[in-house]
Amino acid sequence: MASQRGNWGSRTGFILAAAGSAVGLGNIWRFPYITGENGGGLFVMIYLACVALVGLPIMMAEIFIGRTAQNSPVGAIRSMSRPRSPWMGLGWLSVVAAFVILSFYSVVAGWSMHYVWLSVTNSFTGLSPEQIGDVFGSLYRNAGLNLFWHVVFMVLTIGIVIAGVKRGIEFWSRILLPALFVLLLVLLVYAMTTDGFAAGFKFVFGFHAEKFHPARSTLAALGQAFFSLSLGMGALITYGSYMRRDEDVVSTSIIVCGLDTAVALLAALILFPILFTVGLDPDQSVGLAFVSLPIAFSQMPAGALLGPAFFILLTFAALTSAISLLEVATAYFIDERGWSRVKATLTTGGCILVLGIPSALSGGAGFFGERFKEMTAPVFGQNNGKTWFDVLDSFSSNWMLPLGGLGIAAFVAWRVGNDAREQGFKTGTTLGALYWGWVWLLRYLVPIAVVLVMLNALGVFDTDG
Ligand code: PFF
Repeated sequence: MASQRGNWGSRTGFILAAAGSAVGLGNIWRFPYITGENGGGLFVMIYLACVALVGLPIMMAEIFIGRTAQNSPVGAIRSMSRPRSPWMGLGWLSVVAAFVILSFYSVVAGWSMHYVWLSVTNSFTGLSPEQIGDVFGSLYRNAGLNLFWHVVFMVLTIGIVIAGVKRGIEFWSRILLPALFVLLLVLLVYAMTTDGFAAGFKFVFGFHAEKFHPARSTLAALGQAFFSLSLGMGALITYGSYMRRDEDVVSTSIIVCGLDTAVALLAALILFPILFTVGLDPDQSVGLAFVSLPIAFSQMPAGALLGPAFFILLTFAALTSAISLLEVATAYFIDERGWSRVKATLTTGGCILVLGIPSALSGGAGFFGERFKEMTAPVFGQNNGKTWFDVLDSFSSNWMLPLGGLGIAAFVAWRVGNDAREQGFKTGTTLGALYWGWVWLLRYLVPIAVVLVMLNALGVFDTDG
């Protein structure tokens, strides 16, 4: 079977693909707005601690499982435990999570593509800030436009995954990720020249606590770390399975975590200075990138170039993450069902395309939008009803990924034998001395932290406001 599976062309290829999976909408769209909502500095410090102490050990665990088993999540866990082991539930969760997350992720990626189009065609020039705000509102409500971009984005994602591990995923990651870094640096250099840079920098790294709510913000940081690092759903088990068995899991994970965190911080250091320069409020929720930035760009001399650059960056980042989500589902059908890559990709991609339709319709007044909101109001509170899109988003980040991460940590810490684990960790690395620290984090700190995320999702900490 091994010969039918793909392989990365080189270690750099793996690093670029894994970093491509991690760096996505989570870094550039979600991290800045969550940072804004939680008041900046202190939240960022806690996020960094979550990445280092929870995210990094789980990333090592996932890549370790994939590289050891040379198989996608379901088969990997079976071969490292036993056939029909209950641990295999983790593998199934991966496949389900891939379908669920990609179905709504593709809709946000579609917004990003629409904004590339709008900014390239100069559609924001001459509009007032209110009118620019309305552009997002009307896109959000427009079922046809959402569906159109969702389909375009899914077709691109399918087109890359169908070409295979080396010729599709690695090839495109090698192009898109460096391009993304270049765009990011261009935008950063620009942000550094703005009047708001000092204020933005202080906001991101300063130690101020006004909007920081200890329990809620800490847990938001942890949840963000899971989503941003692509953890808890086997994406990195799958990518790790295309690695050679003698390759270094430890330093590779450190590099991927480092790149992901750097991009999130840079995105914040681009967005906040630009917002402060035009005097906008940093606490803008999901509209931060789609409403505030076009307003900011429309008021800047270089906006006609920066606008397209930013949304192209966002689209590239979303694409390299989406291919990893689709690959998890595709690899299952290739490895477990013996399907050809073409059949597996077209079938899973086609199903996700259909599954995304309700998310694309969520902004409207129909069943998946306003009506769904009314239906869920008794659960989430009268003014907090959630659309289909919101439910999938919060269910996957608050439940699926932390549960998956908890399971993966427990599997490696308690189920895998010490000899195999120690040998696996130490293979190919000069950082073998970290072994017991890694096992300790997986055994104790990770489960405690993850259980806190789940209690938060249950509303136990709602009282801290
Ligand atoms: N890490 C991606 C982001 O930050 O946008 C999202 C993601 C990709 C989550 C792949 C989970 C995953 F398996």
